[in-house]
Amino acid sequence: MKIITVIGARPQFVKAAVVSRAIDKYNQSDKQIEEVIVHTGQHYDANMSDVFFEEMKIPKPHYNLHIGGGQHGAMTGQMLAKIEEVLLQEKPNAVLVYGDTNSTLAGALAAAKLHIPVAHVEAGLRSFNMRMPEEINRILTDRISTWLFCPTNTAIDNLKDEGFLRKTAGNKYLVENVGDVMYDAALFYKKLALPSGEISHILKEANHKFYLATIHRAENTDDKERLMNIISALDKIADNVRVILPLHPRTRNIIKQYNLHFKHIKVIDPVGYFDMVTLLGQCQAVFTDSGGVQKEAYFFHKPCITLRDETEWVELVERGYNFLVGADYDKIIQAQQELVIKEISFSEQLYGDGTAGVNIVQRIIEGLR
Ligand code: UD1
Ligand code: UDP
Repeated sequence: MKIITVIGARPQFVKAAVVSRAIDKYNQSDKQIEEVIVHTGQHYDANMSDVFFEEMKIPKPHYNLHIGGGQHGAMTGQMLAKIEEVLLQEKPNAVLVYGDTNSTLAGALAAAKLHIPVAHVEAGLRSFNMRMPEEINRILTDRISTWLFCPTNTAIDNLKDEGFLRKTAGNKYLVENVGDVMYDAALFYKKLALPSGEISHILKEANHKFYLATIHRAENTDDKERLMNIISALDKIADNVRVILPLHPRTRNIIKQYNLHFKHIKVIDPVGYFDMVTLLGQCQAVFTDSGGVQKEAYFFHKPCITLRDETEWVELVERGYNFLVGADYDKIIQAQQELVIKEISFSEQLYGDGTAGVNIVQRIIEGLR
């Protein structure tokens, strides 16, 4: 059996690491699956790509399409054409895609048009905000997938609401809550994650008392007012408690364009997964607009202040682990002040039991037999 994995953006490397390891484990007892990795090139800086392959021991991509930067349409279109060429040459039994980036949609669409079954990891998530490029990508990908691997029951319910589980003779897909591969990743790699010298130094300097922040979503970076509000609020907070911000290149470029400045925030380059796990493990709370980092805050039992108006991870908000504040200066400051006096106990297990990767591989093998 040959599976082609299409990945290209940072969060996909973290997710694919888990499934590749599960494939490897499977092959140790009974060699059945050949995984061919296609890197679209969407993320290309060493600290946005190579570092994940090295640290997480992801097999080297067999193909790198070098398609990064530019407008969404052009990027997705170029990926579609190049992925199709690879699929025609490799003739896989299935194509595996992750999450909701342009690489996800291009991989799924190229496969579906060639009638190759698609496995979508992180299916069923919805923000219900069609202005987000991610929402468009995930809805379209789900629609043409054969295996819809959901990370939560909320995701299953979203798909039910869209009519996915309605019984019709033509239904030939699997919708299942297999758990969240990012939870598997956090459990596995936190045992291996040694921080770099640079992060150790920064942590010492902060006296191990700090907040971790990330900002990169287009809805914040491409709106000057929202970005200014977020930066001013974090800068105000950083007046008292250190705020460490590993800055995504998209945000760094835009901040330069807008001529914005940081006063107190400790801005650093994007870090590898091991440093990120160290920061998540030691911080007091997280401020983020990232999808993945919201969940990781929960995995590491840290409160998360989410710099978005809505989230796909609603169960975290409903249970009081995650606070949605948008890009509102006052709400961000208020949330931080409330955190100082709030005790949150993290007791539930909302994202499976750390076996999502193995579950996914098993279902694909069963489906292809
Ligand atoms: C993409 C995903 C987003 C995901 C994020 C993860 C889409 C539509 N968006 O957003 O869902 O949350 O990845 O990080 O697919 N750049 C560099 N070096 C890099 C990568 C990017 O300089 O290694 C710069 C380029 O100027 C590029 C810009 O960042 O144009 C944006 O990159 P792009 O991949 O288009 O979108 P992201 O914002 O990273
Ligand atoms: N991440 C990282 N270094 C960083 C920022 C994020 O390793 O400097 C990891 C993070 O721990 C998570 C993944 O990248 O595993 C999330 O990716 P990102 O926030 O870029 O995308 P999103 O999840 O929003 O799509």
